[in-house]
Amino acid sequence: MKRGVFVVFEEIEGSGKSTQAELLAEALKNRGVAVDLTREPGGTEVGERIREILLDPELEEMHPRTELLLYLAARSEHVAKRIRRMLHRDKAVVICDRFTLSTLSYQAGGRQLPGKDVARLCKFGSAGLEPDLTILVDLDVGQAFGRLDREHDRLEQAGVEFHQRVRQAYLAFARRSPAKIRVFDGAAERMKLHEEIKQVVLDLLASKRIL
Ligand SMILES: Nc1ncnc2c1ncn2[C@@H]1O[C@H](COP(=O)(O)OP(=O)(O)O)[C@@H](O)[C@H]1O
Ligand SMILES: [Mg+2]
Repeated sequence: MKRGVFVVFEEIEGSGKSTQAELLAEALKNRGVAVDLTREPGGTEVGERIREILLDPELEEMHPRTELLLYLAARSEHVAKRIRRMLHRDKAVVICDRFTLSTLSYQAGGRQLPGKDVARLCKFGSAGLEPDLTILVDLDVGQAFGRLDREHDRLEQAGVEFHQRVRQAYLAFARRSPAKIRVFDGAAERMKLHEEIKQVVLDLLASKRIL
């Protein structure tokens, strides 16, 4: 039985997901919560190997279906070997940097694979596991890319229009599920943003009697 809480951070690269995921993990650990901070693609040995393939800038020509299935292969392993196990523990919180909404937004929204197929395959890949709460750290594509000083990986090379479609897909999902997908302003100062996110998560944990 699932007893823990599953929180996911989403949005385009450079929006501040990883920064906020780490700040939240720290804040919850300081309150005595058992936190597992993990990421996708990755989080397991097999998943991290798949991640290397997915993010390799030398592999530009991967077919969108191949890409989709690799993400789902990594997710399947992650759910089975790590996330589910942690969620079976009492008072545990899994914080994941990207999950199913990434696949829906990038592979259907960005790469324009048929949304229904992607959604069906996503359910299979995650064995039906859904986050209790998804946090969108939303930021304008230009601003997000302006923050990235490292070498652009394969996905960032996909360009501005692609990422605009991805962002719009994220925002459309949030409009459809406002209770489960909460939008935060990624342009806000990082500690101010952290306080806002933390408050929403603490309310959720209180409602689940975890804190
Ligand atoms: N609220 C913020 N304001 C300004 N810069 C930020 C903010 N949050 C993160 N950054 C910086 O922006 C860059 C991308 O942040 P990161 O958390 O790695 O984003 P993501 O994981 O979404 O790609 C990093 O250099 C980070 O230090
Ligand atoms: Mg990141």
